[in-house]
Amino acid sequence: MFGRRGSETIARNGSDGSDLAAAPAPTPGASSAEPAVMSGASAPAGPSDAPVMRPSVDAPPLAAEPRKSTRERGDSYYDTKSQVFTALIDSIDLSQLAKLEPDSAREEIRDIVNDIIAIKNLVMSISEQEELLEDICNDVLGYGPLEPLLARDEIADIMVNGARKVYIEVDGKVENTAVRFRDNQQLLNICQRIVSQVGRRVDESSPICDARLPDGSRVNVIAPPLAIDGTALTIRKFKKDKLTLDQLVKYGSISPAGAEVLKIIGRVRCNVVISGGTGSGKTTLLNCLTNYIDRDERVITCEDSAELQLQQPHVVRLETRPPNLEGEGEITMRDLVKNCLRMRPERIIVGEVRGPEVFDLLQAMNTGHDGSMGTIHSNSPRECLNRMESMIAMGGFQLPQKTVREIIVGSIDVIIQAARLRDGTRRITHVTEVIGMEGDVIVTQDLVVYNMQGEDQGGKIIGEHVSTGIGRPAFWDRARYYGEEARLANALETMERQAG
Ligand SMILES: Nc1ncnc2c1ncn2[C@@H]1O[C@H](COP(=O)(O)OP(=O)(O)OP(=O)(O)O)[C@@H](O)[C@H]1O
Ligand SMILES: [Mg+2]
Repeated sequence: MFGRRGSETIARNGSDGSDLAAAPAPTPGASSAEPAVMSGASAPAGPSDAPVMRPSVDAPPLAAEPRKSTRERGDSYYDTKSQVFTALIDSIDLSQLAKLEPDSAREEIRDIVNDIIAIKNLVMSISEQEELLEDICNDVLGYGPLEPLLARDEIADIMVNGARKVYIEVDGKVENTAVRFRDNQQLLNICQRIVSQVGRRVDESSPICDARLPDGSRVNVIAPPLAIDGTALTIRKFKKDKLTLDQLVKYGSISPAGAEVLKIIGRVRCNVVISGGTGSGKTTLLNCLTNYIDRDERVITCEDSAELQLQQPHVVRLETRPPNLEGEGEITMRDLVKNCLRMRPERIIVGEVRGPEVFDLLQAMNTGHDGSMGTIHSNSPRECLNRMESMIAMGGFQLPQKTVREIIVGSIDVIIQAARLRDGTRRITHVTEVIGMEGDVIVTQDLVVYNMQGEDQGGKIIGEHVSTGIGRPAFWDRARYYGEEARLANALETMERQAG
């Protein structure tokens, strides 16, 4: 029905299917602005395109494959699949296919694949045919070998280092998998498909690309020549059911009393920075804290890739935009944060602060947008303060160091430190208040710290969250203003008792 040459044409193309395999690259069909799977078939594949980057999902023709005597087991399967795949791609219009419901598309592919198998006289058992069909559908309609990994909800990250190495992170531990791509071309084609869904392209002239899967998972692609051993693809899987603070308590990431302190911090509009290393749980924690924002507050979120899921009704979500292929049209985090200020926000939430936008966020915190929050990539509360200082300096603001520190002290109330420990667990290691200056130095005090006490026999880290017993936190008056001082005192006392 939508065959470029039509499935009936396949049957007319000769019984050995040779015409199919030798078919020329498809001519451009619909507009190249078409998303996703469609672009696979519709983007021009002329000589001006870097051939490696041809945004289609097809495999190189079989003839181009090296024939070695010591081929790995299973290569004949790949050969067959490659043959069928090439014939399929040449026979259908992917842009039309993409418009179908997945079940109908699958049926359509099944019919054509069966035709191809018959025409090419390929000898296969029913189960082999089914496997081939499943694989081909995954390649054409989905993300090829990544599909089974994407379907597993317990996986946090998928890391592809070239066609032959795919790692995943499960329960905080990174492990190798048996998943392989047919070759670098297939991997690159799948990356191309992913990024084309958000109107981008990855090729030698723009080898770095951020994108998002339709389910919200965050994707980064870096292609050769920058990635020396083949395209590197990194996916932070989107969790539909975000973790809550109560779940974090269950996992031991924070003690019940520590969680109580965090809930109060979220509720009483402290300005908070969540600090942590890569994948330490910063965004998760930020999302948890936003649960304690009152429902009637107007919240504006700014993110590079929308990950937060606020439960409040009055939320405006903003997302940055990278430059287009011509290098134009970029909207930076700084642009967003600045614009936020004209949107009458009550709180501003910045997904990840990594540049000069820190200055605008601090200004916002300082000027009546109490309860604003952001995350910063750093390994301790002290380092977090230093990072903020250097981000301001890098933004070209010519301010004396002392002034910068005063701005920080005047803006940030609390730094929450997240960490992924060596046993793979994620913990909140500090809840630290920024309380003032002594001379030129910023003074902080730890409200809650995670004390590591050792390891059990299984290598799991043993420790506990304790209050440092400093008495009243600096945000005590704020807690009182919101009627939360008794709860706060209670939580701190519980922790001190446990520590004592
Ligand atoms: N306390 C926790 N216990 C168990 N899993 C967690 C915890 N916190 C976060 N995770 C999981 O770890 C993964 C990474 O979390 P998250 O995205 O919040 O990290 P991040 O610090 O924001 O990472 P990045 O630096 O890449 O932005 C997610 O899959 C998340 O569900
Ligand atoms: Mg994050």
